[in-house]
Amino acid sequence: MTDLKGQIAIVTGASGGLGARFAEVLGRHGATVALAARRHDRLEALATTLTQEDIRCASFSFDAEDPAAAERLIDDVTQRLGQPTLLINNAGISLPGRAHESSLDDYERTMAVNLRAPWRLSQLCASRWIAAKSGGAIVNVASMLAERVGPGVSLYCMSKAALAHMTACHAVEWARHGIRVNAICPGYVRTEINDEFWDTNRGRAELNRLPRRRVGAPQDLDSALLFLCDPASGFVNGASITVDDAQSWVL
Ligand SMILES: NC(=O)c1ccc[n+]([C@@H]2O[C@H](COP(=O)([O-])OP(=O)(O)OC[C@H]3O[C@@H](n4cnc5c(N)ncnc54)[C@H](OP(=O)(O)O)[C@@H]3O)[C@@H](O)[C@H]2O)c1
Repeated sequence: MTDLKGQIAIVTGASGGLGARFAEVLGRHGATVALAARRHDRLEALATTLTQEDIRCASFSFDAEDPAAAERLIDDVTQRLGQPTLLINNAGISLPGRAHESSLDDYERTMAVNLRAPWRLSQLCASRWIAAKSGGAIVNVASMLAERVGPGVSLYCMSKAALAHMTACHAVEWARHGIRVNAICPGYVRTEINDEFWDTNRGRAELNRLPRRRVGAPQDLDSALLFLCDPASGFVNGASITVDDAQSWVL
């Protein structure tokens, strides 16, 4: 079993969906967890549940659209829980729209949350890990749409492709410092990001095209997350692992 005792993990977007599940799973395997997102009430509710399971955790208000938020988050986590050793860049948004109709604001918000914040958090963690000679691990949550494309979500696809490429760039630069950087590229998993879509006509048609005519649940990503965070996976670096029940092959 993956042993994450002594690890301190930051999970962005821990107020729901995949992030809440990632926080639970890391905590249940021994990690201390820093829960970061905007909806503080939800983080507090999750923190209460995790604390009842004897998982050490704390919640942190974090708005990825604020360029200064990343530095504040790393400083606050270090002060309240200790130096982070794992970073899960999970927070993400999708602002659907036809490519010729998306606004400048859509572009800037998508890139700020899906790319700039993970980049800045990664950079801040890596510089501390390099100075401390401690090593560390980063998992970026990209998407199967980092490699494939779908209509109506061009900004999302662009941001996730860049995130997957950033994963490899950072792995190459930081490998010599004992820092591993990998990505999970999930297929469709039912969460708030897409919940309403599956009950529309287009959603039902899309579901019927999928190999198992079903989308995933957040727990379907547990094993990939643990594999990438496990200190035993020391040779796994710069990888983008698709976990999608073969969905991307039929997109
Ligand atoms: N579900 C899927 O099918 C799927 C597939 C592939 C990839 N993904 C990726 O998986 C990740 C998690 O998605 P999900 O399905 O769990 O979506 P979700 O249920 O909509 O959760 C998104 C999370 O991101 C956080 N977030 C959004 N904007 C933020 C901001 N400005 N600052 C800080 N946090 C922010 C939200 O927290 P607050 O609103 O509280 O800030 C929330 O916790 C995303 O990166 C998504 O692109 C999901």
